[in-house]
Amino acid sequence: MRNNPIGIFDSGIGGLTVAKEIIKQLPNESLIYIGDTARVPYGTRSKEIVTKFALELVDFLLRRKVKCLVVACNTISAYALSEIKKVSPVPVVDVLQPVVDRAIKTTKNKKIGVIGTQGTIQNRAYDLAIKKLDPKIKIVSCACPLFVPMAEEGLNHHQATKLIAREYLSDVIGGGIDTLILGCTHYPLLDEAIREAVGKGVILIDSAGPTVTELKKVLSEKNLLSNNPYLKYEFFVTDVPERVYQVASRFFGSDLKDKIRKVTL
Ligand code: DGL
Repeated sequence: MRNNPIGIFDSGIGGLTVAKEIIKQLPNESLIYIGDTARVPYGTRSKEIVTKFALELVDFLLRRKVKCLVVACNTISAYALSEIKKVSPVPVVDVLQPVVDRAIKTTKNKKIGVIGTQGTIQNRAYDLAIKKLDPKIKIVSCACPLFVPMAEEGLNHHQATKLIAREYLSDVIGGGIDTLILGCTHYPLLDEAIREAVGKGVILIDSAGPTVTELKKVLSEKNLLSNNPYLKYEFFVTDVPERVYQVASRFFGSDLKDKIRKVTL
C-alpha cells in the first residue's frame, strides 16, 4: 500500500498548484491527479451538487487504489469533506484545516482576511474553523469570483487584475489584517496582483504549502511514505478543450500537453 500513488483532485486545474508542491516536498511519491474540467467552476454551485461531483472524483481515485486522498479544492473542502471522509477507506487531507492552523500561527494582531469562491465564503467554513481554535480572532472575508477566470487567463500582471484586486480587497485591507488566506487553489497564480493590493505588511497563505506539510505528517504517521524509486505521475481531466493544456501547464509550472488524459466519470 505504501507505494501506491497519492490521489489528488480539484474542480479543475487549480489543484495543480498543490500537485506541484507535493512533487517538490515529497519527491518519492507517485500521484494521480483528476480535475473536473467539464464541470468547473464548483464555486458557484450548491452544496448538494458539489458533494455529488466530489464523490464521483473520489470514486475514480479509489478505484485506482490510491493510498490517500488530497482534496486540492477549497470549495470541495468547505462543502463535502465530511461526506468524503465517510466513504473513504484511506486517509483524507483537505486544504482548509492546514491553512487555518498556519494562519493562526502566523497572525500577530489576530486579524485574518479570507478570500475564496462564492461557495467557500458563503459557507463560512474558514470562519468557523478559525473561531473554533481562537474565538478572539477577527475575520474579514470576501468572495472574489473574477479571480478564477483571471488566473486561468494568466492575467497576474495585467492592470485590470490589479484594479479588480484593489476593489475586491478594499474591505479586507480596511480591516487591518496582517494575514490573508488565499482560500482557492487558483489564487497563487494571481499572487503578484494580490500582494500589491494588500501591501507588504500582510502575509499571504495559500493552500499548497500547509496542505503538503500536513500530507507528509499523515503519511509518516500511518507508515505510508513510499520507498519506491519508480515514480509515476498521471493527470486526468473530464474535458480537454485545447485551452486546458496551456492553462494546466502554467499552473503546474511545466508542459503537460502530452501527459493529460481525458476520462469519463
Ligand atoms: N479550485 C477551486 C477552489 O479551490 C476554485 C475553482 C472553482 O470554482 O471550481 O475553491
